[in-house]
Amino acid sequence: MKHFLDIHKTDAKALRGMIDAARAMKEARNGRPKGMPDDEQPLAGRMVALIFEKPSTRTRVSFDVGIRQMGGQTMVLSGREMQLGHGETIADTARVLSRYVDLIMIRTYEEQTLLEMAEYATVPVINGLTNRTHPCQIMADVMTFEEHRGPIQGRKAVWCGDGNNVCASWLHAAGQFGFDFTFSGPQTLDPEAEFLGFARKKGARIAVERDPAKAVAGADLVIADTWVSMHDSESSKERRHNQLRPYQVNDELMAHAKPDALFMHCLPAHRNDEVTSAVMDGPHSVVFDEAENRLHAQKAVVRWCLGL
Ligand code: CP
Repeated sequence: MKHFLDIHKTDAKALRGMIDAARAMKEARNGRPKGMPDDEQPLAGRMVALIFEKPSTRTRVSFDVGIRQMGGQTMVLSGREMQLGHGETIADTARVLSRYVDLIMIRTYEEQTLLEMAEYATVPVINGLTNRTHPCQIMADVMTFEEHRGPIQGRKAVWCGDGNNVCASWLHAAGQFGFDFTFSGPQTLDPEAEFLGFARKKGARIAVERDPAKAVAGADLVIADTWVSMHDSESSKERRHNQLRPYQVNDELMAHAKPDALFMHCLPAHRNDEVTSAVMDGPHSVVFDEAENRLHAQKAVVRWCLGL
């Protein structure tokens, strides 16, 4: 059983294989219309359940389109509308779904829901985001960096803002792909020590720098994300904005990075909060390539899970 639960739980060679496969599949489509099937149809006859406890645009559409391009079928399920949202256990849900579908992708509020689904499912389970990590996003982001700048190994990525679930998966990726990663944000919003510790143990150079201008010096990649995540309370919004305002990515901050530095954001963005529109729409930004590459990277993840 090959679940894709997290980047640090997946073999580094397998991760590299998925990135390479994603690039090959993207090239093979050669600009054909989105609704046209791939030449290869590895998912013919396969059914995939896409479960969302939280809102989604990119994850939902990219998984759905990608699976259809590979010849598979999908059903998009909302946690609220399932018995899962009305008291049925995760274990029972996992056992039942495994009788109907070949693969489960789930976006959950709590990581524990994902882990329990994977424990009891007899088909592969993919993490489509939890409160703690977002591995599919970072697979697409590593692919995007390498499309633009070549191997990410040894390069410097800098995170500006909240040490959230996306930041955690970047730290896992730093360990598995071998790049330097600097976190720049207020101490109260530091990434969990476990995530920093994993990357360091793997030999990645990991730094924490409170001054964002110092942090981005020499950066090949600058990354921002929303200041208030889906699992954060609305009442924390004002405090978070006040704490994070010095970490906004704007032209002045980008000027401290390498001249050819890329800017990434997993989206959705709150323009002129965590990043200015000038940076989002400027020459450093590859945010829409990241969004597109969710499609290609996840197709590779799905094939890896199913051994296809
Ligand atoms: N980046 C991301 O996961 O986008 P969605 O929340 O729209 O799926």
